Amino acid sequence: MAPDPLTPYGNRPMVTPIVNAVNYEYLSFEVLRQITDGEIDGYTYHRDDNPTVREVERRIADLEGAEDCVVCTSGMAACTMAYLTYLKTGDHLLIFHDTYGANYKVALILERLGVQITWLNADETERLGEHVRPNTRMIFLETPSNPLCKIIDIAAVRKAADAVGAMVIVDNTFATPYHQRPLALGADLVVHSATKALGGHNDLMAGAIAGSKENYNLLWFTRQAIGTTLDAYSAFLLDRGLKTFDLRARAMAEGAQKVAEFLAGQHKITRLAYPGLKDCPGHDVAARQMQHGFGGMLAFDVGEDEEDAKRFIAALNTIYHAVSLGATESLICIPYLTTMLYLPPERRTAFGVRRNTVRLSIGIEPADVLIKDIKQALACVAQAVR
Ligand SMILES: Cc1ncc(COP(=O)(O)O)c(C=O)c1O
Repeated sequence: MAPDPLTPYGNRPMVTPIVNAVNYEYLSFEVLRQITDGEIDGYTYHRDDNPTVREVERRIADLEGAEDCVVCTSGMAACTMAYLTYLKTGDHLLIFHDTYGANYKVALILERLGVQITWLNADETERLGEHVRPNTRMIFLETPSNPLCKIIDIAAVRKAADAVGAMVIVDNTFATPYHQRPLALGADLVVHSATKALGGHNDLMAGAIAGSKENYNLLWFTRQAIGTTLDAYSAFLLDRGLKTFDLRARAMAEGAQKVAEFLAGQHKITRLAYPGLKDCPGHDVAARQMQHGFGGMLAFDVGEDEEDAKRFIAALNTIYHAVSLGATESLICIPYLTTMLYLPPERRTAFGVRRNTVRLSIGIEPADVLIKDIKQALACVAQAVR
Protein backbone atom coordinates (compact mmCIF):
# COMPACT_ATOMS: atom_id res chain seq x y z
CA MET A 1 0.00 0.00 0.00
CA ALA A 2 1.30 3.46 -0.93
CA PRO A 3 2.23 5.69 2.04
CA ASP A 4 0.05 8.76 2.41
CA PRO A 5 2.25 11.71 1.34
CA LEU A 6 0.58 13.84 4.01
CA THR A 7 1.50 11.45 6.81
CA PRO A 8 4.87 10.10 5.71
CA TYR A 9 6.06 9.33 9.24
CA GLY A 10 2.83 7.88 10.61
CA ASN A 11 2.10 10.84 12.93
CA ARG A 12 0.19 13.56 11.20
CA PRO A 13 2.00 16.91 11.12
CA MET A 14 0.13 19.85 12.62
CA VAL A 15 0.45 21.77 9.38
CA THR A 16 -0.23 20.59 5.86
CA PRO A 17 3.12 19.52 4.36
CA ILE A 18 4.24 21.34 1.22
CA VAL A 19 4.72 18.57 -1.31
CA ASN A 20 6.80 20.23 -3.97
CA ALA A 21 7.17 17.14 -6.15
CA VAL A 22 6.35 17.41 -9.82
CA ASN A 23 6.28 13.63 -10.22
CA TYR A 24 5.89 10.61 -7.95
CA GLU A 25 7.55 7.22 -8.07
CA TYR A 26 5.06 4.45 -8.91
CA LEU A 27 5.30 1.88 -6.15
CA SER A 28 3.68 -0.75 -8.38
CA PHE A 29 1.65 -1.11 -11.53
CA GLU A 30 -1.32 -1.94 -9.31
CA VAL A 31 -1.08 1.47 -7.60
CA LEU A 32 -0.77 3.12 -11.00
CA ARG A 33 -3.93 1.32 -12.12
CA GLN A 34 -5.84 2.31 -8.96
CA ILE A 35 -4.91 5.98 -9.44
CA THR A 36 -5.69 5.94 -13.15
CA ASP A 37 -9.05 4.25 -12.53
CA GLY A 38 -9.88 6.78 -9.81
CA GLU A 39 -10.08 4.12 -7.09
CA ILE A 40 -7.61 5.99 -4.86
CA ASP A 41 -6.72 9.66 -4.53
CA GLY A 42 -3.11 9.04 -5.54
CA TYR A 43 -0.60 11.33 -7.15
CA THR A 44 1.47 10.96 -10.29
CA TYR A 45 2.23 14.39 -11.79
CA HIS A 46 1.69 17.91 -10.44
CA ARG A 47 -0.49 19.13 -13.30
CA ASP A 48 -2.92 16.30 -12.42
CA ASP A 49 -3.04 16.74 -8.67
CA ASN A 50 -1.02 17.56 -5.59
CA PRO A 51 -1.63 16.53 -1.97
CA THR A 52 -1.14 20.05 -0.55
CA VAL A 53 -3.59 21.43 -3.12
CA ARG A 54 -6.01 18.57 -2.46
CA GLU A 55 -6.06 19.38 1.26
CA VAL A 56 -7.05 22.98 0.62
CA GLU A 57 -9.67 21.89 -1.90
CA ARG A 58 -11.38 19.83 0.78
CA ARG A 59 -11.37 22.76 3.18
CA ILE A 60 -12.95 25.14 0.64
CA ALA A 61 -15.52 22.52 -0.41
CA ASP A 62 -16.44 22.25 3.25
CA LEU A 63 -16.80 26.02 3.66
CA GLU A 64 -19.09 26.24 0.62
CA GLY A 65 -21.12 23.11 1.49
CA ALA A 66 -19.90 21.57 -1.79
CA GLU A 67 -19.14 17.96 -2.61
CA ASP A 68 -15.73 18.96 -3.94
CA CYS A 69 -13.62 21.85 -5.15
CA VAL A 70 -10.98 22.50 -7.80
CA VAL A 71 -8.27 24.96 -6.82
CA CYS A 72 -6.27 26.75 -9.51
CA THR A 73 -3.75 29.50 -10.13
CA SER A 74 -5.94 32.62 -9.81
CA GLY A 75 -9.50 33.87 -9.57
CA MET A 76 -9.48 34.63 -13.29
CA ALA A 77 -8.19 31.12 -14.01
CA ALA A 78 -11.19 29.83 -12.04
CA CYS A 79 -13.65 31.98 -14.03
CA THR A 80 -12.02 31.02 -17.33
CA MET A 81 -11.95 27.31 -16.47
CA ALA A 82 -15.67 27.51 -15.73
CA TYR A 83 -16.38 29.19 -19.09
CA LEU A 84 -14.20 26.77 -21.04
CA THR A 85 -15.63 23.71 -19.33
CA TYR A 86 -19.29 24.43 -20.03
CA LEU A 87 -19.52 26.80 -23.02
CA LYS A 88 -19.14 25.91 -26.68
CA THR A 89 -19.68 27.68 -30.01
CA GLY A 90 -23.30 28.79 -30.36
CA ASP A 91 -24.01 28.78 -26.62
CA HIS A 92 -25.31 31.92 -24.95
CA LEU A 93 -23.74 33.37 -21.79
CA LEU A 94 -25.62 35.87 -19.63
CA ILE A 95 -23.20 37.86 -17.52
CA PHE A 96 -23.56 40.99 -15.43
CA HIS A 97 -21.59 44.18 -15.99
CA ASP A 98 -21.29 44.15 -12.23
CA THR A 99 -18.60 41.49 -12.23
CA TYR A 100 -14.84 41.83 -11.91
CA GLY A 101 -13.43 43.79 -14.87
CA ALA A 102 -11.19 41.06 -16.30
CA ASN A 103 -14.28 39.02 -17.18
CA TYR A 104 -14.74 41.55 -19.97
CA LYS A 105 -11.43 40.49 -21.49
CA VAL A 106 -12.24 36.80 -21.21
CA ALA A 107 -15.61 37.52 -22.82
CA LEU A 108 -13.79 38.97 -25.83
CA ILE A 109 -11.95 35.65 -26.17
CA LEU A 110 -15.17 33.67 -25.76
CA GLU A 111 -16.83 35.76 -28.47
CA ARG A 112 -13.93 34.94 -30.75
CA LEU A 113 -14.71 31.29 -30.10
CA GLY A 114 -18.34 31.79 -31.12
CA VAL A 115 -20.03 32.14 -27.72
CA GLN A 116 -22.93 34.63 -27.73
CA ILE A 117 -22.82 37.03 -24.79
CA THR A 118 -25.41 39.31 -23.24
CA TRP A 119 -24.25 41.81 -20.62
CA LEU A 120 -26.84 42.78 -18.03
CA ASN A 121 -27.00 45.45 -15.37
CA ALA A 122 -27.55 43.99 -11.88
CA ASP A 123 -30.55 46.33 -11.58
CA GLU A 124 -32.17 44.37 -14.43
CA THR A 125 -32.30 41.04 -12.58
CA GLU A 126 -36.07 41.16 -12.36
CA ARG A 127 -36.21 41.18 -16.16
CA LEU A 128 -33.83 38.25 -16.55
CA GLY A 129 -36.64 36.17 -18.07
CA GLU A 130 -36.66 38.52 -21.07
CA HIS A 131 -32.96 37.93 -21.71
CA VAL A 132 -32.64 34.15 -21.43
CA ARG A 133 -32.74 32.24 -24.70
CA PRO A 134 -33.22 28.58 -25.54
CA ASN A 135 -29.43 28.35 -26.01
CA THR A 136 -28.56 30.16 -22.75
CA ARG A 137 -26.11 27.74 -21.17
CA MET A 138 -24.79 29.82 -18.29
CA ILE A 139 -25.68 32.79 -16.08
CA PHE A 140 -22.65 34.25 -14.32
CA LEU A 141 -23.00 36.77 -11.49
CA GLU A 142 -21.42 38.35 -8.44
CA THR A 143 -23.33 39.40 -5.34
CA PRO A 144 -22.43 41.68 -3.65
CA SER A 145 -20.86 42.88 -6.88
CA ASN A 146 -17.50 44.42 -7.58
CA PRO A 147 -17.19 47.34 -7.02
CA LEU A 148 -20.64 48.81 -6.28
CA CYS A 149 -21.86 46.08 -3.90
CA LYS A 150 -25.06 45.58 -5.90
CA ILE A 151 -27.15 42.67 -4.70
CA ILE A 152 -28.56 39.99 -6.99
CA ASP A 153 -31.22 37.57 -5.82
CA ILE A 154 -29.58 34.17 -6.44
CA ALA A 155 -32.85 32.23 -6.06
CA ALA A 156 -34.51 34.48 -8.67
CA VAL A 157 -31.64 33.86 -11.08
CA ARG A 158 -31.99 30.12 -10.47
CA LYS A 159 -35.64 30.35 -11.45
CA ALA A 160 -34.88 32.19 -14.70
CA ALA A 161 -32.09 29.72 -15.48
CA ASP A 162 -34.37 26.73 -14.91
CA ALA A 163 -36.75 28.02 -17.57
CA VAL A 164 -34.11 27.24 -20.22
CA GLY A 165 -31.95 24.65 -18.44
CA ALA A 166 -29.01 27.02 -17.89
CA MET A 167 -26.45 26.69 -15.14
CA VAL A 168 -25.87 29.40 -12.52
CA ILE A 169 -22.37 30.36 -11.42
CA VAL A 170 -21.79 32.79 -8.57
CA ASP A 171 -18.51 34.57 -7.92
CA ASN A 172 -18.57 34.57 -4.12
CA THR A 173 -15.34 36.52 -3.64
CA PHE A 174 -16.95 39.65 -2.16
CA ALA A 175 -19.41 37.80 0.05
CA THR A 176 -17.17 34.90 1.14
CA PRO A 177 -18.67 31.62 2.39
CA TYR A 178 -18.78 33.05 5.91
CA HIS A 179 -21.67 35.25 4.83
CA GLN A 180 -23.15 33.51 1.82
CA ARG A 181 -23.34 29.96 0.48
CA PRO A 182 -24.60 30.24 -3.10
CA LEU A 183 -24.91 26.47 -3.61
CA ALA A 184 -27.55 26.32 -0.88
CA LEU A 185 -29.36 29.19 -2.63
CA GLY A 186 -29.54 27.36 -5.95
CA ALA A 187 -26.24 28.00 -7.73
CA ASP A 188 -24.55 25.13 -9.57
CA LEU A 189 -21.04 26.39 -8.95
CA VAL A 190 -19.24 28.92 -6.78
CA VAL A 191 -16.05 30.56 -7.98
CA HIS A 192 -13.54 32.46 -5.88
CA SER A 193 -10.55 34.60 -6.18
CA ALA A 194 -8.90 32.84 -3.24
CA THR A 195 -6.26 35.56 -3.56
CA LYS A 196 -8.70 37.61 -1.50
CA ALA A 197 -10.37 36.79 1.83
CA LEU A 198 -9.81 33.03 1.70
CA GLY A 199 -6.04 33.56 1.62
CA GLY A 200 -6.39 36.88 3.37
CA HIS A 201 -2.80 38.09 3.71
CA ASN A 202 -1.81 39.61 0.33
CA ASP A 203 0.73 36.84 -0.15
CA LEU A 204 -0.73 34.35 -2.59
CA MET A 205 -2.71 34.15 -5.79
CA ALA A 206 -5.22 31.34 -6.24
CA GLY A 207 -8.70 30.53 -7.50
CA ALA A 208 -11.30 27.96 -6.52
CA ILE A 209 -14.44 26.43 -8.02
CA ALA A 210 -16.74 24.45 -5.74
CA GLY A 211 -19.76 22.32 -6.58
CA SER A 212 -20.91 18.74 -7.14
CA LYS A 213 -18.55 15.79 -7.62
CA GLU A 214 -19.73 15.58 -11.23
CA ASN A 215 -18.72 19.18 -11.85
CA TYR A 216 -15.45 18.60 -9.99
CA ASN A 217 -14.62 15.86 -12.51
CA LEU A 218 -15.39 18.11 -15.49
CA LEU A 219 -13.40 21.03 -14.09
CA TRP A 220 -10.53 18.76 -13.07
CA PHE A 221 -10.35 17.61 -16.72
CA THR A 222 -10.03 21.24 -17.85
CA ARG A 223 -7.39 22.07 -15.26
CA GLN A 224 -5.36 18.99 -16.08
CA ALA A 225 -5.63 19.78 -19.80
CA ILE A 226 -4.62 23.44 -19.65
CA GLY A 227 -2.27 23.28 -16.65
CA THR A 228 -3.74 25.76 -14.19
CA THR A 229 -2.89 23.65 -11.14
CA LEU A 230 -1.84 25.75 -8.14
CA ASP A 231 1.71 25.35 -6.82
CA ALA A 232 2.10 23.59 -3.48
CA TYR A 233 3.57 26.57 -1.63
CA SER A 234 0.63 28.83 -2.50
CA ALA A 235 -1.71 26.00 -1.52
CA PHE A 236 0.04 25.80 1.85
CA LEU A 237 -0.35 29.57 2.39
CA LEU A 238 -4.01 29.34 1.41
CA ASP A 239 -4.51 26.43 3.77
CA ARG A 240 -2.91 28.43 6.58
CA GLY A 241 -5.01 31.48 5.75
CA LEU A 242 -8.16 29.40 5.96
CA LYS A 243 -7.43 28.52 9.58
CA THR A 244 -8.34 32.07 10.57
CA PHE A 245 -10.84 32.74 7.79
CA ASP A 246 -13.98 32.84 9.96
CA LEU A 247 -12.35 35.13 12.52
CA ARG A 248 -11.10 37.50 9.85
CA ALA A 249 -14.40 37.53 7.94
CA ARG A 250 -16.30 38.33 11.14
CA ALA A 251 -13.91 41.15 12.08
CA MET A 252 -14.08 42.62 8.56
CA ALA A 253 -17.88 42.60 8.48
CA GLU A 254 -18.16 44.17 11.93
CA GLY A 255 -15.65 46.85 10.97
CA ALA A 256 -17.36 47.48 7.61
CA GLN A 257 -20.77 47.93 9.24
CA LYS A 258 -19.34 50.52 11.67
CA VAL A 259 -17.41 52.34 8.96
CA ALA A 260 -20.49 52.37 6.69
CA GLU A 261 -22.64 53.82 9.48
CA PHE A 262 -20.02 56.51 10.04
CA LEU A 263 -19.77 57.33 6.32
CA ALA A 264 -23.56 57.57 6.04
CA GLY A 265 -23.43 60.72 8.20
CA GLN A 266 -20.64 62.46 6.26
CA HIS A 267 -21.68 65.18 3.82
CA LYS A 268 -18.54 64.77 1.71
CA ILE A 269 -19.59 61.20 0.95
CA THR A 270 -21.97 61.82 -1.92
CA ARG A 271 -23.06 58.22 -2.48
CA LEU A 272 -22.58 55.12 -0.36
CA ALA A 273 -23.13 51.43 -1.03
CA TYR A 274 -22.95 48.84 1.72
CA PRO A 275 -25.59 46.09 1.84
CA GLY A 276 -25.67 46.22 5.64
CA LEU A 277 -27.26 49.69 5.56
CA LYS A 278 -31.05 49.47 5.65
CA ASP A 279 -31.51 52.15 2.98
CA CYS A 280 -29.04 50.51 0.59
CA PRO A 281 -30.86 49.09 -2.45
CA GLY A 282 -30.69 45.32 -2.19
CA HIS A 283 -30.51 45.32 1.62
CA ASP A 284 -33.63 43.16 1.96
CA VAL A 285 -32.38 40.54 -0.50
CA ALA A 286 -28.93 40.63 1.09
CA ALA A 287 -30.48 40.14 4.54
CA ARG A 288 -32.25 37.06 3.17
CA GLN A 289 -29.32 35.44 1.43
CA MET A 290 -26.40 36.53 3.60
CA GLN A 291 -25.72 35.66 7.22
CA HIS A 292 -23.51 36.91 10.07
CA GLY A 293 -23.40 40.39 8.54
CA PHE A 294 -22.75 41.75 5.08
CA GLY A 295 -19.06 41.41 4.34
CA GLY A 296 -16.09 43.74 4.37
CA MET A 297 -16.56 45.62 1.09
CA LEU A 298 -17.88 49.17 0.68
CA ALA A 299 -18.09 51.56 -2.25
CA PHE A 300 -18.65 55.30 -2.01
CA ASP A 301 -18.22 58.53 -3.92
CA VAL A 302 -16.00 61.19 -2.40
CA GLY A 303 -16.89 64.81 -3.05
CA GLU A 304 -17.65 65.78 -6.62
CA ASP A 305 -14.83 64.58 -8.81
CA GLU A 306 -11.78 62.39 -9.23
CA GLU A 307 -9.54 65.01 -7.61
CA ASP A 308 -11.62 64.88 -4.41
CA ALA A 309 -11.31 61.09 -4.33
CA LYS A 310 -7.57 61.28 -4.98
CA ARG A 311 -7.05 63.88 -2.24
CA PHE A 312 -8.99 61.72 0.20
CA ILE A 313 -7.00 58.59 -0.58
CA ALA A 314 -3.67 60.40 -0.53
CA ALA A 315 -4.46 61.70 2.97
CA LEU A 316 -5.16 58.27 4.48
CA ASN A 317 -2.53 56.93 6.88
CA THR A 318 -3.82 53.57 8.11
CA ILE A 319 -5.75 52.45 5.06
CA TYR A 320 -3.49 51.39 2.20
CA HIS A 321 -3.91 52.72 -1.33
CA ALA A 322 -3.76 49.38 -3.15
CA VAL A 323 -5.87 47.06 -5.24
CA SER A 324 -7.08 43.63 -4.13
CA LEU A 325 -9.39 43.01 -1.20
CA GLY A 326 -10.24 40.73 1.69
CA ALA A 327 -6.86 41.19 3.36
CA THR A 328 -5.91 41.74 7.00
CA GLU A 329 -5.04 45.34 6.08
CA SER A 330 -7.72 47.76 4.85
CA LEU A 331 -7.23 48.58 1.17
CA ILE A 332 -8.71 51.38 -0.90
CA CYS A 333 -8.64 52.20 -4.61
CA ILE A 334 -10.43 54.16 -7.32
CA PRO A 335 -11.88 51.41 -9.56
CA TYR A 336 -12.02 53.74 -12.59
CA LEU A 337 -8.23 54.07 -12.42
CA THR A 338 -7.37 50.53 -11.34
CA THR A 339 -9.55 47.41 -11.36
CA MET A 340 -11.64 48.68 -14.28
CA LEU A 341 -8.70 49.49 -16.52
CA TYR A 342 -9.61 46.31 -18.36
CA LEU A 343 -12.66 48.09 -19.74
CA PRO A 344 -12.89 50.86 -22.34
CA PRO A 345 -13.32 54.24 -20.51
CA GLU A 346 -16.96 54.74 -21.53
CA ARG A 347 -17.84 51.26 -20.29
CA ARG A 348 -16.21 51.91 -16.92
CA THR A 349 -18.81 54.55 -16.09
CA ALA A 350 -21.82 53.11 -17.95
CA PHE A 351 -23.22 51.09 -15.04
CA GLY A 352 -22.97 53.28 -12.00
CA VAL A 353 -19.26 53.64 -11.27
CA ARG A 354 -18.08 57.24 -11.31
CA ARG A 355 -14.60 58.69 -11.51
CA ASN A 356 -14.79 59.63 -7.80
CA THR A 357 -16.10 56.21 -6.70
CA VAL A 358 -13.75 54.49 -4.27
CA ARG A 359 -13.78 50.85 -3.24
CA LEU A 360 -12.82 50.12 0.35
CA SER A 361 -11.93 46.67 1.61
CA ILE A 362 -12.04 46.62 5.38
CA GLY A 363 -9.29 44.68 7.13
CA ILE A 364 -9.10 43.46 10.70
CA GLU A 365 -7.99 46.73 12.27
CA PRO A 366 -10.24 48.15 15.03
CA ALA A 367 -13.11 50.13 13.46
CA ASP A 368 -12.39 53.24 15.56
CA VAL A 369 -8.86 53.40 14.15
CA LEU A 370 -10.22 53.23 10.59
CA ILE A 371 -12.92 55.82 11.30
CA LYS A 372 -10.34 58.19 12.78
CA ASP A 373 -8.21 57.82 9.66
CA ILE A 374 -11.17 58.40 7.34
CA LYS A 375 -12.29 61.43 9.37
CA GLN A 376 -8.94 63.20 9.07
CA ALA A 377 -8.65 62.34 5.37
CA LEU A 378 -12.13 63.71 4.67
CA ALA A 379 -11.03 66.96 6.24
CA CYS A 380 -8.50 67.21 3.40
CA VAL A 381 -11.24 67.07 0.77
CA ALA A 382 -11.64 70.78 0.20
CA GLN A 383 -15.21 71.08 -0.87
CA ALA A 384 -18.27 70.47 1.24
CA VAL A 385 -20.75 69.33 -1.33
CA ARG A 386 -24.14 68.81 0.20
C1 LIG B 1 -14.78 39.45 -7.46
C2 LIG B 1 -13.51 39.04 -8.13
N1 LIG B 1 -13.50 37.93 -8.88
C3 LIG B 1 -12.37 37.52 -9.50
C4 LIG B 1 -11.20 38.23 -9.40
C5 LIG B 1 -9.96 37.75 -10.09
O1 LIG B 1 -9.10 37.19 -9.14
P1 LIG B 1 -7.52 37.04 -9.34
O2 LIG B 1 -6.93 38.39 -9.26
O3 LIG B 1 -7.12 36.11 -8.25
O4 LIG B 1 -7.33 36.44 -10.70
C6 LIG B 1 -11.16 39.38 -8.61
C7 LIG B 1 -9.92 40.17 -8.49
O5 LIG B 1 -9.89 41.25 -7.94
C8 LIG B 1 -12.36 39.80 -7.98
O6 LIG B 1 -12.38 40.92 -7.22
